[in-house]
Amino acid sequence: MELPRAAALVARLEVLDEIGSTNTELVRRVTADPAAWPAPAVLLTDHQTAGRGRLGRSWSAAAGDSLAISVLLRPDVPTQRLGWLSLAAGAAMTEALNGLGVAARAKWPNDVLIDGRKVCGVLAEALPDGAGVVIGAGLNHAADRAALPVPTATSLAAEGGPTDPDLLVAAYLERLLARVNDLATVGGDPDRSGLRDAVRAVSDTIGRRVRVLRADEAVTGEAIDIDVEGRIVVDRGPIGGLLACATGDVEHLRYE
Ligand code: ATP
Ligand code: BTN
Repeated sequence: MELPRAAALVARLEVLDEIGSTNTELVRRVTADPAAWPAPAVLLTDHQTAGRGRLGRSWSAAAGDSLAISVLLRPDVPTQRLGWLSLAAGAAMTEALNGLGVAARAKWPNDVLIDGRKVCGVLAEALPDGAGVVIGAGLNHAADRAALPVPTATSLAAEGGPTDPDLLVAAYLERLLARVNDLATVGGDPDRSGLRDAVRAVSDTIGRRVRVLRADEAVTGEAIDIDVEGRIVVDRGPIGGLLACATGDVEHLRYE
């Protein structure tokens, strides 16, 4: 796979024929030899054999069906704001697909949907050095409908969208790097950088009735906003009131 347009956007881009998890491998490589991996850098494959999702769940795809894209970022943003990078990635992928004529929307916290079906999932992980993050995105670009791994999934090919990896990865990186740069320019403030409004604008979740499963309870109500910490704000009605749920505490978010 050749990705000249995408490669021109980052300090280093490496394509692997096959790997277990691009997130795991990029964290491993950066930790072993930080000087070899100036940020932003990308490790990518279309044959990931042990893809990981949130909370130990798995991301699976047949060889050639899905792009596993891991991006190393070291933005000058306070640690407590780094959680916004995951939302920035979901928004960037959604905007990139919209720009290519695909009607995608972002489901909080980490999915990109087309017509309610998942085309992309995001998994952000902090580096052990605390000074950077690896943001992984799995994008089902080429899978035939019959080859999709779960019934809730879709792919760009199945939706009649573009499938060229270089076009897709370059469009995603352009958006992601611009958003992260804007965030760093204002010291990590998601409001002043326009990131919170961008995340709201592509959100499929705000305005819907949701059921949020947390370790100790299920929260049901209308998702009304994403707060400045990146949490989903659920209106449980006159008795329950508003409750903000952080990504780390949420096992599942379902639409009612
Ligand atoms: P939620 O219930 O909050 O939406 P989720 O379903 O997004 O959570 P994740 O933590 O994102 O769950 O875990 C990854 C999920 O993605 C798996 O549970 C699996 O159902 C689904 N999945 C795995 N591989 C693919 C794929 N290639 N395309 C779409 N979905 C996939
Ligand atoms: C999810 O839906 O929960 C997130 C899935 C994230 C999958 C991507 S593919 C590239 C990177 N490497 C991984 O092992 N996971 C992420």
